[in-house]
Amino acid sequence: MLIAVDGPLASGKGTIARALAAHFSLPHMDTGTLYRAVAVEMLEAGENPRDAEAAEARARALDPSAIDEKKIRTAGAGVAASIVSAHPGVRRALLKLQQDFARQPGGAVMDGRDIGTVIAPEAEVKLYVTASEEARAWRRQAELVNRGEMIEFDQVLAQLKERDARDAARSAAPLTRAPDAVELDTTEMTIDEAVRAAIAIVDERR
Ligand code: C5P
Repeated sequence: MLIAVDGPLASGKGTIARALAAHFSLPHMDTGTLYRAVAVEMLEAGENPRDAEAAEARARALDPSAIDEKKIRTAGAGVAASIVSAHPGVRRALLKLQQDFARQPGGAVMDGRDIGTVIAPEAEVKLYVTASEEARAWRRQAELVNRGEMIEFDQVLAQLKERDARDAARSAAPLTRAPDAVELDTTEMTIDEAVRAAIAIVDERR
């Protein structure tokens, strides 16, 4: 069983995908880590994330086993990731890695922006996780502060709007709900409620 979980940032899709993977004993890939890792490598090398050629070269050479979780989770890495992910060459370079993961025999859970639309349109279950802008900004701020990054709510909200706009407007695999995806709005839900709702959706569809 392949489960695709897509949605905008801080919608709860990562938490839901991890919980589904644990519940159904499936391997999980958070595909945002790949774009974040490319972005961090570029920033560290003094390259501009808008440089499509340099970004594609970094993506082609990416070693997913060497990704440093701590470095890629900063707000700056998220903003830079949304810039590098708009380059079609970067998306092409990261396609095979993601499709190989999607096609492993036992199934998988993958979360990102384009799993149900581009990476694995054949997924048995597709979830499109959303929440209001405000709710997502509060969650992202709490997450960053928990990681020790002090950042104002207004700045988080502004970055969120900027990243949403970039993810939705890009020509290569824009963030959009697959026609056969089930939408899960988590605005008014606790984590537990959202996870239970997601498990129920998967149980119904598989
Ligand atoms: O989900 P996360 O915030 O970690 O993703 C970072 C950035 O990577 C997103 O803003 C998005 O631009 C990009 N991304 C993408 N396609 C995916 C996953 C992430 O374009 N499948």
